[in-house]
Amino acid sequence: MAAIAALSLTATYITAPAIAQQAEAATATVQADRPGPQVHPDVFGQFAEHLGTGIYGGIWVGERSSIPNDKGYRRDVLEALKAIKVPMVRWPGGCFADEYHWRDGIGPRSRRPVKINTNWGGVNEDNSFGTHEFMGLAERLGARAYVSANIGSGTPAETSQWVEYMTAPANTTMLAKERAANGRIEPWGVHYLGIGNELWGCGGNMRAEYAADLTNRYITFAKAGTGKMLKIASGPSDANYEWTETMMKMSVKHIDGLALHFYTRPRDEKWEDKGPALGFPEREWASTLQHTLQMDEFITKHSAIMDKYDPQKRVMLAVDEWGTWYDPAPGSNPGFLQQQNSLRDAMVAALNIHIFTRHAERVKMAAIAQMVNVLQAMLLTDGPRMVKTPTYWVFDLYTPWQGATSLPVELKAPWYHKNEVAIPAISVSAVRDTAGAVHVALVNVDPNRAFPVTIDLRGVQATAVTGRVLTAGAMDAHNSFDQPNIVAPTTFGGATIADGRLSATLPAKSVVVLKLN
Ligand code: AHR
Repeated sequence: MAAIAALSLTATYITAPAIAQQAEAATATVQADRPGPQVHPDVFGQFAEHLGTGIYGGIWVGERSSIPNDKGYRRDVLEALKAIKVPMVRWPGGCFADEYHWRDGIGPRSRRPVKINTNWGGVNEDNSFGTHEFMGLAERLGARAYVSANIGSGTPAETSQWVEYMTAPANTTMLAKERAANGRIEPWGVHYLGIGNELWGCGGNMRAEYAADLTNRYITFAKAGTGKMLKIASGPSDANYEWTETMMKMSVKHIDGLALHFYTRPRDEKWEDKGPALGFPEREWASTLQHTLQMDEFITKHSAIMDKYDPQKRVMLAVDEWGTWYDPAPGSNPGFLQQQNSLRDAMVAALNIHIFTRHAERVKMAAIAQMVNVLQAMLLTDGPRMVKTPTYWVFDLYTPWQGATSLPVELKAPWYHKNEVAIPAISVSAVRDTAGAVHVALVNVDPNRAFPVTIDLRGVQATAVTGRVLTAGAMDAHNSFDQPNIVAPTTFGGATIADGRLSATLPAKSVVVLKLN
């Protein structure tokens, strides 16, 4: 009998046997008769920072561009993002947010000041994409707006006036009238207000106690004129549990969410040496996937601290920066954080979506970093060309998870071993969508072996199954401008359902998403 990894809703990190075992079938139970919490749609949110070509060139090309655009927004990018139902966009940073002064980005574009983007490449920031342009993007995508306020170098007055400018009812205050004079009469909704970003680092290098005081102070004066505005405190990164403890102790009454940032790197010893996005050995495929699974441990431990101060789970853990971070693409400006995106990134995306689904009670919002051209992007652009990445296709496959009911899963999975890495080869997530259909997602992280999987379905009446699979020949298979469809979903015919049991054989290194009918 081969060793298997037993996983359940409560599993955090798994201790593997030291010796590699024979490949085995995976077995699981989906308990549709014991529905869990809703997977909030905003868990599929995205982050768009003024960084490299994330905004300029990637989303915004200006009305006079030869690239087809809708009042300055790239049409190809808008169409692609609408297709995956982006529910929320976080802007303008990141580190950029704590140096951003909103008044620089309103009024006639020709009169907006040019500044230096000191965080990202030292390039000119002409402020042609400002509040109106961001809100126009959110409206075009049908996405909720998450605006990060400048706490590090701004003032409480600046934040409260920005909130007033965006949300004051039409024809009321001076700022509402200024907004109208700039072309927008009605207020916008600011669904989330970020109270600074990484206040322990680029947001001001603060102690947690000082950051909590500032958080409470800024929130006191940030009052939305219309709509509900949830306040998200700058939270910890990775395993900084002291930050969470202090923030929750001092600010729990004032905040609606605490941010968590965690980036997955293949090599995590030195920040300067993360490992390449392409051409990596299997050892780094394995270490990347092992590292990304730490998300589960971080969420579990931060949530346990939050539980002490907020047992009702009113305050969400908002994983508003997550994804892979590799060495910069060869020949690129290192400050632009450009990287290719391969099948490995698709695995990372799917595994994290499974983790967020398991923690749906506390994780009600997340934002992958970032939307276009930066880090683990959905889309890459180069002048007029655009390509959808493997990560984009994972977000496409998991659109039924948005707003669905999470279903408990118990799993016994074989191990995937490589060098010092041992992780469960299979990951399973299941939801019931708002129309009542059950969807089951299966990830096989083993790049070499297919695995049969059998799943007992409790409380599911389905008799038929359809599905799609994302896989490719090579671990670093990716889409390029010349070959844009190397990694794209295809129909999966390898699943059957009979007598309340779902069976499938998962190809090596694949993501399979099934709909039970
Ligand atoms: O996403 C890139 C940067 O990573 C963000 O600006 C910052 O918040 C984080 O350190």
